[in-house]
Amino acid sequence: MAKNKSEQENQYIYIVQSSLEPSKCKIGKTNDLDRRLKEYNNMTGKSKDNVYAYLFTCQVKNMARIEADMAKQFFNLREEKSREIYFCNPHWFNVYVKFIKSHTLFVKEIFIKQDDKKQIVRIIRKTTPTLKERGLTTKEILQKAQKVKNDEFFTRYEDVEKELSMYPKRIWRNKVVFCNCDDAVGDDEITTSPFALYFLENFKELGLKKLICTHFAGNVDLFNQGPRGYIFTKTGYSEIGTKEYPRKYNGSFDHPLSLKILNEDADIVCTNPPFSRARDYWRIIIASRKKFIIISNITNVKNQPYMSYFEEGKALPGYNSVNYFLNPKRELVSAAGHWYTNIPIKKRPKSRHLKIIPLKDIPAKYKRYDDSKMLIVDNGYIPSGYKKSFAVSVRSILNGLLEKGYKLVEHKEYVPYVNGERCFGRVLVKKV
Ligand SMILES: C[S@@+](CC[C@H](N)C(=O)[O-])C[C@H]1O[C@@H](n2cnc3c(N)ncnc32)[C@H](O)[C@@H]1O
Repeated sequence: MAKNKSEQENQYIYIVQSSLEPSKCKIGKTNDLDRRLKEYNNMTGKSKDNVYAYLFTCQVKNMARIEADMAKQFFNLREEKSREIYFCNPHWFNVYVKFIKSHTLFVKEIFIKQDDKKQIVRIIRKTTPTLKERGLTTKEILQKAQKVKNDEFFTRYEDVEKELSMYPKRIWRNKVVFCNCDDAVGDDEITTSPFALYFLENFKELGLKKLICTHFAGNVDLFNQGPRGYIFTKTGYSEIGTKEYPRKYNGSFDHPLSLKILNEDADIVCTNPPFSRARDYWRIIIASRKKFIIISNITNVKNQPYMSYFEEGKALPGYNSVNYFLNPKRELVSAAGHWYTNIPIKKRPKSRHLKIIPLKDIPAKYKRYDDSKMLIVDNGYIPSGYKKSFAVSVRSILNGLLEKGYKLVEHKEYVPYVNGERCFGRVLVKKV
């Protein structure tokens, strides 16, 4: 059977990138790969400052079809003005290449930039190292894990994904998400905060209206994003996003510009604020009356500055604890974090750990009275029908006890003594 003209010609799909714009790439078609690259470099004048290079090239049977299919598949990652320009980072580059190579009209790969390929694997491993990859046993990692003493650690992507994906999709639809504690947006996973990454990757699926992320220009540059604060804004699927560097802007969550975004633009705030400024951060977020999903210390529910927020229903525990973070060397460190939110959680999975039964049915080993005759119950047991105050661990509050008709009695930690011996701190609660 005679081949048609388009099948006879050399047809190629390529991905090319300018060294000046690593966050973008151009995906196009050509009959002559050598000439196309020369044209790009001649267009701007190939120089030290700007060089176009291929990231990927391949031969195909019908380049126009593949180009059109790419445009359709990734319409949300294309620039509106210049339709061949796509958002690019190692993750999306991988996705583009996978799409092209699995297309029925793909013939063969000609070139793929090896460095990037290697880097992608390295980045993923560094972000999510398994114990096996690290050559460690669980016991060793627990021994190695240090308590985090300062603010300079990263949230792991999997923790962000695990929590945020548990909220109903409708809460995100047409909303402006604001990530305001060093949620940098760089060119790859290493230089992008996991919050920014999650929303960039799920922008379309969540139906977001806008994503705004700020980079904090502090002493330690966790994401290697430079000494100037910036505001990254992505408006709509088909916009790649732009960075603004306002004069004298340090990216702090309490900078007037950040507060303006919070109060005038944002619908939902998501981030992991610095533990050292958690009190101020909570005060500002709660006063803004905006929705939030944030990470903070697991003990907040028994710490005086926060307890009135839980009491008044202005803050609720989120779904999950966060037990590990990554330090700037990307090593796993343990820390007792938890998610907090003010978005109602209808069916809290962990409330099944609360065993609300008559006091007489609670096993003896999980109920006792302290030296001041206060009842202490443990292991998730809650005495139903008990009229007086009693002490429970923080875990019961995190598992949703305040949503089950109980209230906090005092806004401070309760430290029981049993036979003169100090026990760990709890909180006093009472049936409403
Ligand atoms: C716990 S880290 C989290 C970083 C990143 N958001 C993440 O989740 O991986 C807290 C970050 O807040 C930054 N930070 C410290 N003070 C800040 C401030 N006043 N405003 C905004 N960010 C601040 C720290 O430099 C640090 O990068």
